[in-house]
Amino acid sequence: MNILITGSTDGIGKLAAIKMAKDGHQIYLHGRNIDKLNKVISEVKLESNNDKIDGFVADFSDLDQVRRMSMEINEKISSLDVVINNAGIFKSPQPITKAGYDIRVVVNFFAPILLTNAILDKISKGRSPRIINLSSAAQSPVSMDLLGGDIKVSDQEAYAQSKLALLMWSFYLAKKNNNVAIVALNPGSLLNTNMVKEAYGKFWSSADKGANIIYELATIKGTEEIDGKYFDNDRGAFGLAHPDAYDNEKINELMKKANNEISVNKQI
Ligand SMILES: NC(=O)c1ccc[n+]([C@@H]2O[C@H](COP(=O)([O-])OP(=O)(O)OC[C@H]3O[C@@H](n4cnc5c(N)ncnc54)[C@H](OP(=O)(O)O)[C@@H]3O)[C@@H](O)[C@H]2O)c1
Repeated sequence: MNILITGSTDGIGKLAAIKMAKDGHQIYLHGRNIDKLNKVISEVKLESNNDKIDGFVADFSDLDQVRRMSMEINEKISSLDVVINNAGIFKSPQPITKAGYDIRVVVNFFAPILLTNAILDKISKGRSPRIINLSSAAQSPVSMDLLGGDIKVSDQEAYAQSKLALLMWSFYLAKKNNNVAIVALNPGSLLNTNMVKEAYGKFWSSADKGANIIYELATIKGTEEIDGKYFDNDRGAFGLAHPDAYDNEKINELMKKANNEISVNKQI
């Protein structure tokens, strides 16, 4: 399979990439730092004994970099079987991007929409194609003002809003696409990664718990049982998301606002 996993220079993304690489798949890694990305490409090759490891670099807090990466993918790759939108951020020394948006909104929500839409044709050409979107148990009703960069909220609130927004987009995309399966995933709460250590200073479970469920959803045969659903790995089962994820009016409002902000969002 051809697999793209964003945010795979660390945390559960890196561990999942190693697991998938061990099965011999072609893996495309992604990171925001070229040196770290190259180091991880070498590490994954060595650990998996698989040379079919490549990578893309883009800082997702800058949508122009996401656009450039999408173009590189379209030039380089003929089809993608699995795309895992895993890159995410909770805390940052610069929580507001140069373009004036909350960084959680841009990295966790705008960037995956922009990337996925730009490479959807390649995913449609995949075998049993699927998209896995990394949401969270942290889900808060999404403020249009936060999406527009008009208000500031706490780290936790911005993160939880971006993660519900991603989930709502997942359900929206699943309804629109019949030939690509889309599943939203809470990989488990407080897994042992940099993000969690920075945010909470403690963890509840190993990072492997999250990597294992990403691996399962990415490699499960057939996609009917995962398409359009939310897998809650705190329960180890498909589950119900926040009620807003089932509210078509709210989803339509969210997608209209997001598409508008993504199309006008320019770096200065
Ligand atoms: N850990 C948990 O308990 C938990 C729970 C629920 C959901 N999740 C979700 O799971 C995903 C992975 O999280 P994790 O815990 O593995 O976190 P992590 O260890 O901090 O890894 C995050 C990954 O995203 C990348 N990233 C961060 N900011 C970026 C940016 N501006 N542009 C491009 N890439 C960027 C990081 O790059 P660097 O290597 O350069 O830092 C890293 O590769 C996230 O979407 C997170 O929200 C995690």
